[in-house]
This record gives sequence, C-alpha cells and structure tokens, in this order.
Amino acid sequence: MGTAALTIDGLGVSFSGLKAVSAFSMIVETGELRVLLGANGAGKTTLMDLISGKTKSTEGRVFLGDTEITNWEEHRIARAGVGRKFQIPSVFRDLTVRRNLEVASCRNPSVFANIGFGFSKAAKARMDEVLGVIGLEDLRNEPASNLSHGQTQWLELGMLMVQDPKVILLDEPTAGMTQSETLKTSQIILALKGRHTIVVVEHDMAFVREIAERITVMHLGKLLAEGPMAEIETNPKVREAYLGSRRLS
Ligand SMILES: Nc1ncnc2c1ncn2[C@@H]1O[C@H](COP(=O)(O)OP(=O)(O)O)[C@@H](O)[C@H]1O
Ligand SMILES: [Mg+2]
Repeated sequence: MGTAALTIDGLGVSFSGLKAVSAFSMIVETGELRVLLGANGAGKTTLMDLISGKTKSTEGRVFLGDTEITNWEEHRIARAGVGRKFQIPSVFRDLTVRRNLEVASCRNPSVFANIGFGFSKAAKARMDEVLGVIGLEDLRNEPASNLSHGQTQWLELGMLMVQDPKVILLDEPTAGMTQSETLKTSQIILALKGRHTIVVVEHDMAFVREIAERITVMHLGKLLAEGPMAEIETNPKVREAYLGSRRLS
C-alpha cells in the first residue's frame, strides 16, 4: 500500500478553552472523495482551516503524502498541493471565463515553468477539458461578472482543477445553490473523483448520497463515525448526535 494523500493524526485546537477540534484523526487515500458530515459547530470548517494552515493547531500532525505540513504557513501549504475553495469566490470578475482559468493555471508549478513560451499544448488541452467538466464551454469568452452564482462557483472549481492540487478541500460547495445547480455540482465533483483527492463538507443529503463513498462524521470536534453511507445512515450514535432530528431521505 502506498502513502495516503492526506493523513491527519490527533489534530486539535482550542479557542478560548473550547476544543473546536480535538484528537481528530483521518486518513484519505489518493483519488478518494471523502464527505465530512456534522452538525453546525462540529468543527468541520476549523478542521479545514487546520489542514490548509489558516489556523495553527495546538496538538497533532498533518501529512500531505509523506511530507509533514503541520502548522506551515498557509501559502506554503497551498504551494505544496492543498487547494481550497472558499465560500466567497475569488474569480477575477473583469476577466473572461477562459482567462480566469489561464490565470489559475499559472499557479500550477508545472505550467508556470514553461510560461515564457506561452501555454503548452498540454496546458491548453487541460483548460479545454476543464471548461467541459464545469460546463462553461459556451461562456468561455464571457466576463466572469456575467456568470450566475452557480456558474461562478463552477468556474472556481475549474480554477482549482487546473492547478492540479494533490488534495482539494471544499467547504459546503452547494451553499446558496438551487436544486438543479446542486445536482450539477455533484456531477462536477463526481467527475473529479479518481483524478483528484477531495474532502468535501456538505449538508445536502441528496448531494451526499449522489457522491459519497466513505463518510466521516464529526461531533463536538471529535471523530464520531466513519464508513460507507449505508453504515453511517443506520449508525445509532450518528442518528442521535446529528441526524436524529432530521430525516435521512
Ligand atoms: N476563530 C474562532 N474563534 C473562536 N471560536 C471559533 C472560531 N472558529 C470556530 N470557532 C468555534 O469552534 C466550533 C467549531 O466551529 P466550525 O469549525 O465553524 O464548525 P462547523 O464548520 O462544523 O459548523 C464552534 O463552536 C465555533 O463557534
Ligand atoms: Mg462550517
């Protein structure tokens, strides 16, 4: 067995005495799509902040492949290959869809090395492929400011994809989306599976059912359960702590 893409070992942080994340461990294999579930305040966003270096941990370790990245500076972790999508899009509104992908592409070290000669055939082909995956081919020459909320989120996913991060962190990527936008987003994320390693926080159970293989459930900063959807749905601890008040269908 090779090294996992992401290994979290006993990670934790406190905010003024409150343990937002505590002794949390998780191993995400290369090419895996892991869904992170948990009630509001469970610590999901804080966990992503700890992985991406936005927040420094007070206990535990994080490995990207076999490189320990614990408490590195945020930009260094990004450069090492952790890509993160924030809720507020960081697209350049005045630039076209295609140009946004080009700009993002320059953050990919293997593309950037050759940029003096213009974009390589491979980089261009990859951008066209990504345009197809995110479904914005017809809008490639539109300024990003003309995109809908959903389309802007998809462009941002595309901008992550062309950077080829080793691990992609998505925190509630369907927030504020319509049902059909949510469905399309799940299709895009499914298309990323295998090629990218992804950890996604999501509340929409229809979406989770659509994409989930392995699910990790957090509760009060701790690991509560981990397993395939069928196991998680029927796990009494999970029902009690998180899903009990909600219907699963
Ligand atoms: N910067 C912060 N300062 C103080 N408390 C925080 C901070 N960030 C998160 N928390 C607290 O940590 C807990 C986990 O929050 P969060 O990670 O946002 O949960 P989730 O994303 O699962 O809803 C909550 O109790 C929240 O109030
Ligand atoms: Mg959150």
